[in-house]
Amino acid sequence: MPPERTGLVAGRTHHEHLTMAKITFVQPDGSQVVVEAAPGITVMEAAKLNNVPGIEAECGGACACATCHVYVDDAWRERSGKPATMEEDMLDFAFDVREASRLSCQIKVTKELDGLVVRVPDKQF
Ligand code: FES
Repeated sequence: MPPERTGLVAGRTHHEHLTMAKITFVQPDGSQVVVEAAPGITVMEAAKLNNVPGIEAECGGACACATCHVYVDDAWRERSGKPATMEEDMLDFAFDVREASRLSCQIKVTKELDGLVVRVPDKQF
């Protein structure tokens, strides 16, 4: 039987020499999905690689769909940065946009973001 694919292993292959960053996705029901992401990929890609529910990412990361919308935990807002103009324009199309809203395809994973907590919205559109 093939080994089961676990969230902690996915996405690790090409970047084993790099320190992985732990990212927690809090679901609308309060449950948490914790994944490890290689620096250089985006938070959206980390979610997709690990099948995190609620991150649709229909445009594949082109900042053109807003279905990768997340709320960045207050403690991480500064470190994860502010949305660029293009991202802000696209965020207008997201559902229930708040101060902490970001498009997760526009957040690059870095070592500094190890421990990042983001919340997945109730619905993406
Ligand atoms: Fe479409 Fe982020 S994946 S805007």
